[in-house]
Amino acid sequence: MTVTFILNGEPQTVEADPDMPLLWVVREKLGLTGTKFGCGIAACGACTMHVDGVATRTCVLPVGDVEGAEVRTIEGLSDENGLSAVQATWLEMQVPQCGYCQSGMIMAVEALLDENPEPSDDDIDAAITNICRCGTYARIRPAVHAAAKRRRA
Ligand code: FES
Ligand code: FES
Repeated sequence: MTVTFILNGEPQTVEADPDMPLLWVVREKLGLTGTKFGCGIAACGACTMHVDGVATRTCVLPVGDVEGAEVRTIEGLSDENGLSAVQATWLEMQVPQCGYCQSGMIMAVEALLDENPEPSDDDIDAAITNICRCGTYARIRPAVHAAAKRRRA
């Protein structure tokens, strides 16, 4: 079946089984490998993309369900002005360790800040449920506050 959706602002049409997870379509058929596979059961968040602006775990999202949707991946965050505020803050504050979980983490944080520009600690804890096997959690919360401030400046 043919599925058409917008990926990082560009229309994409792919030939795929409609049950194939969006993560695999984006990585294997469209060649964008910034989004990672972790658990495959919507538990870890490594595969987070934005689907119509909502942080979504795409390892369990059939590509047939995104017909006509706007999909954004980590590759779509930066533009001609450079890195997004969250990406720049992540670099400055050296949040990642191995980095494997971090594209999903950043996508979840971007979605949170799009919805809530000044989140409390509780808001962050409730929204950012991604798993980091390196245990970078202690750096995540201050980095979200710093990125939020940077976005509002
Ligand atoms: S790989 Fe999708 S939530 Fe873990
Ligand atoms: S930085 Fe290594 S898994 Fe999160």
